[in-house]
Amino acid sequence: MTLLITGGAGFIGSNFILDWFEHMDEEIVNLDALTYAGNSENLWPLAHDPRHVFVRGDIGDAALVSNLLARYRPRAVVHFAAESHVDRSIRGPEDFIQTNVVGTFRLLEAARAYWQALPSGSPFTFLHVSTDEVYGSLTMDAPAFTERNRYEPNSPYAASKAASDHLVRAYHHTYGLPVLTTNCSNNYGPLQFPEKLIPLCLHNALAGKPLPLYGDGLQIRDWLYVGDHCSAIRRFLETGAPGEVYNIGGWNEKTNREVVETLCAILDELSPRTDSKSYREQITFVQDRPGHDRRYAIDATRIERELGWKPAETFASGIRKTVRWYLDNQAWVDQVASGAYRNWIDRQYGACACAFF
Ligand code: NAD
Ligand code: TYD
Repeated sequence: MTLLITGGAGFIGSNFILDWFEHMDEEIVNLDALTYAGNSENLWPLAHDPRHVFVRGDIGDAALVSNLLARYRPRAVVHFAAESHVDRSIRGPEDFIQTNVVGTFRLLEAARAYWQALPSGSPFTFLHVSTDEVYGSLTMDAPAFTERNRYEPNSPYAASKAASDHLVRAYHHTYGLPVLTTNCSNNYGPLQFPEKLIPLCLHNALAGKPLPLYGDGLQIRDWLYVGDHCSAIRRFLETGAPGEVYNIGGWNEKTNREVVETLCAILDELSPRTDSKSYREQITFVQDRPGHDRRYAIDATRIERELGWKPAETFASGIRKTVRWYLDNQAWVDQVASGAYRNWIDRQYGACACAFF
């Protein structure tokens, strides 16, 4: 048996593959274009493992995807590949439409042709990994998102993911393709590219640079440790019913300010500044993101009730593990935070990107 993973060199995809081989022996074919967010170094522990086949390529390359499906005959496609950073989608939405919408469409077409040609009764699932951002923004007193919330995407990223979710739904409704869609909250953990809030602030803290909070820093996200997201996807591949949609969340609503202050407190303990001041001193309020969603919150009751899945990590345990991982893996951070990364940071944060001391 084989799985075809897309985007397996990115943050969640690489964590998923490493986690998979800790629990399963099934081969993985990993299709990834290695954009700026993809890093084959994430999978170095598998360099000589014959169960992992890496293919560099684009999900929008219909011939390549069809060949991979015909050659490896996977029992499931797990679709992580995407342009995933909201701020980049604001500066340049085109790549988001190309990969998240057109790329997902091409992948669905190839999967449909492959599945329709399978002998009847053959197992097949197309698992589409999506985000809670498709539901839009909540007011402070609104109940958390359930699977029945209306789609109200606000950023080009969220709109492109929403479009891909609709395509996945339509392929089930129209052609019967056995699909599953998961809408997950903000992930954090090892191997996350340092453009996202948590790894960016860890990286900047240790480099003596500002920790940029957008606006008043009181926007709320639900945070899920990436290992918990991986275990949820494993559970779906075992038991999820075709055509269904599940929310995945950590029951951890935090303001961005709380998140960054927690990071500072853990760093103060594990890697204190040489001047004995707190890393909190580096927190800097910067211009808000245009159209910034105020609050996301996930009601993860359905996955718990129907699939018996719950996150293993609390925010306190997961964030501590994450900080330790970044401290222990500075070589990885240095490798990803070079080259084109610098250009992004300079463009996005301007004068704020300069060092404090
Ligand atoms: P990421 O940006 O870290 O990784 C994306 C990966 O996809 C990279 O390896 C990149 O090289 C690859 N890729 C991009 N375009 C491609 C293309 N055209 N063809 C093949 N590969 C391509 O993203 P992530 O944080 O690991 O997110 C993975 C998935 O999970 C995405 O679909 C994202 O929308 C979803 N998601 C992420 C979060 C989060 O907090 N990170 C939360 C919920 C859902
Ligand atoms: P991010 O990690 O980009 O994820 P998303 O936008 O998908 O939720 O951002 C998480 C939150 O942190 C979001 O409210 C924006 C905020 N943020 C900052 O305040 N400063 C930053 O430098 C970044 C990257 C994000």
